[in-house]
Amino acid sequence: MTALVSIKQLKEPDIEWLLRRAQHFVGHQPDGQMRGTVVNLFFEPSTRTALSFQMAAQRLGLTVLDFAIENSSTCKGESLVDTLKTVDALGVNAAVVRHSLDWPELIAGEKLKLSLVNAGSGHYEHPTQALLDALTIKQHFGRFADLKVAIVGDVLHSRVARSDKLLLEQLGAQVSFSGPDRFYPHDLSDCRWVDFDQALAESDVVMVLRVQHERHQGYFDVSDYNRHFGLNSIRLMQMKEDAIILHPGPVNRSVEITDDVLQDHRCKVLQQVTNGVAVRMAVMEWCFQEERREQLVSA
Ligand code: CP
Repeated sequence: MTALVSIKQLKEPDIEWLLRRAQHFVGHQPDGQMRGTVVNLFFEPSTRTALSFQMAAQRLGLTVLDFAIENSSTCKGESLVDTLKTVDALGVNAAVVRHSLDWPELIAGEKLKLSLVNAGSGHYEHPTQALLDALTIKQHFGRFADLKVAIVGDVLHSRVARSDKLLLEQLGAQVSFSGPDRFYPHDLSDCRWVDFDQALAESDVVMVLRVQHERHQGYFDVSDYNRHFGLNSIRLMQMKEDAIILHPGPVNRSVEITDDVLQDHRCKVLQQVTNGVAVRMAVMEWCFQEERREQLVSA
């Protein structure tokens, strides 16, 4: 079965199909005729990704199994690999996995029948978030070519930044990064790192990242963050009038983004959340229905 663990797997026709199918689901309810069982294995907290995967699977007709780490054998020391082998042996068809580590690396070489979908792996990848960001951009601009996208803030710890760069550059957008120098992502070899004010003034899309307190071990003080690197009403005036603001959520209000920015007409944060359900429906179809997908692509 097909799995989606990295944006690197997707060629342009795949991306085109996923975005087209997701856009279809924005306006249409599916027939709910898909059959199969999905488990959401979230080893890190989540609201929007976990709930939207659950809604997506239910709308398609799939059965969704509950898994809560605190009630699972993870508490007895079971490894991720053994948990995956267990749900595979139970006959589960797909596992949606979020983990603080680069979990696809951990399971490389394991023979599993079930499909795997990456719902976030350490600071490495979050492919379905990138797809829903791309859908939100496409709904507004109708294209990616020549668009300037600035991804600003805690880039160092952001899997969203890495997946978005891979996806949006493949689609023809120009991606820059900005933020405090200590959040410079040294692992990104071709990173265009620009001054924050320049990024705001030149960009069509400003993607504000969450300051990821849980990965800082308490070393990062945010008391002056908004003044220097946050989006606020003063910085809104520096942006292009037709630019849009994205944020993967959850937001730290008054840190990377202020209340008034969240209410601005250019802010698409809740549209991103809505698009998340549609994108994850398309991704689940992708994983479950290879034959049907081929029919849909050629239709
Ligand atoms: N954007 C995102 O991954 O949010 P959650 O952590 O709430 O799933």
